[in-house]
Amino acid sequence: MTKLALNDHKLLRTSSYIDGVWITQAQNSFDVTNPVDQSVVASVPIHGKDETEDAVAAAQKALPAWRAKTAKERSALLRNWRNLLMEHQEDLAQILTAEQGKPLAEARGEIAYGANYMEWFAEEAKRIYGDTIPAPTGDKRVVVIRQPVGVVACITPWNFPSAMLARKLAPALAAGCTVVCKPANETPLSAFALAELAERAGIPKGVVNIVCGDTPAIGEVLTTHPDIRKLTFTGSTRVGKMLMAACASTVKRTSMELGGNAPFIVFEDADLDAAVQGAIASKYRNAGQTCVCANRIFVQASVMEEFSSRLKAATEKLVMGDGTQDGVTVGPMIHEKALIDVQGKIQDALDSGASLVLGGHRGSQGSCFLEPTIVSGVTDKMRLFREEIFGPVAPLISFETEEEVIHMANDTEYGLAAYFFSRDIGRVWRVSEALDYGMVGSNTGMLSNEAAPFGGVKQSGQGREGSKYGLEDYLEMKYMCMGGI
Ligand code: SIN
Repeated sequence: MTKLALNDHKLLRTSSYIDGVWITQAQNSFDVTNPVDQSVVASVPIHGKDETEDAVAAAQKALPAWRAKTAKERSALLRNWRNLLMEHQEDLAQILTAEQGKPLAEARGEIAYGANYMEWFAEEAKRIYGDTIPAPTGDKRVVVIRQPVGVVACITPWNFPSAMLARKLAPALAAGCTVVCKPANETPLSAFALAELAERAGIPKGVVNIVCGDTPAIGEVLTTHPDIRKLTFTGSTRVGKMLMAACASTVKRTSMELGGNAPFIVFEDADLDAAVQGAIASKYRNAGQTCVCANRIFVQASVMEEFSSRLKAATEKLVMGDGTQDGVTVGPMIHEKALIDVQGKIQDALDSGASLVLGGHRGSQGSCFLEPTIVSGVTDKMRLFREEIFGPVAPLISFETEEEVIHMANDTEYGLAAYFFSRDIGRVWRVSEALDYGMVGSNTGMLSNEAAPFGGVKQSGQGREGSKYGLEDYLEMKYMCMGGI
């Protein structure tokens, strides 16, 4: 059993939260385990169809009063919630690390990252503007207002169990929507803790509901219930496509934040130390388990040897281990199944002629630890090139010209994040425009923040989270034609 030394033990909630009530009754339960050693962190009741229908009914009941609040009132409640997150940042980070495995410093960062979305949307709530449009005839007025979509279903992943939920809840609540959330079964405790703080912040019962347990049964209700007007999902492209298809029967709006295959390009004119730093930040964050992680590192042939040796030296300094220990910078992967899958991708590359520069083996710390790895000589035929890796593996690919690398970088069905390093201003513009991605970082390996529109093109999804655009996904436009003037 993982023992958590929390200052506030009430934050360790372990069951679904529906209409302001913690639902502890269930026929069965499942264990949330710590990826470091598979010890049990908590046992969570399995809820399914009935509880999800109750949650939708609660959200529907709470909707009229919530949407009728003034933007200023909703904003104040969101801000209270944000403040509570930061007040309890340490406890929330401890819970997050215990169930997810990321180092505590990253977990603290994730809590602050989620709180930033709450702060941002507390402010944006007050800026939901409409339009007046000059009418084509004198006796009419054309007015456009924005109204909340209605009840929103949020399905969130295990890699950012707190921030991905905050990034959906904050704009939904700011817009005047109520929500039913289904967190990943690997990491529900961070979601329950957010709900506990929502209650303390004064958010009325029924506005935020969390259901956990039988994923297919919950998913079935969330995708087909006529009272759910929108579904927002962060996760794999495979599951996103299934959810989109299921939502078609009731024509729900969807926002999809799906998989990526991020190119990370190092041109010969780059500041190589900055590029190495960017690669380390982008590649090994959360043990390589983010959808914006550098997935294919393209290096211009003339600087490949130098870049590769500097990247190796920097990667060797990473410390893998239990994320609660001081100095640890890379935690375990979420489960052994994920690790075996990543090892399969490494083996496929080695079998096809690539070479190991560093790592490639399991760590001695436990069954979910994979050494930070660098593989050189990767080609477009290999799984490391074509598939999202979702693990701490950096594949190096050599290129000669700008034109060639743009072609290779865009040669994927994904289009989420892309990065490149160059000190040539003309190239910075050209390459930024040519990369077929929703987000492009130049001379940085980190582009996520609440002020920016996060999202992808192609099979990486649709919709944007964060920024002024993030609210649009939770608003309907209504055109009011006023005649007889
Ligand atoms: C994700 O991996 O889904 C999100 C990463 C981020 O927000 O930076």
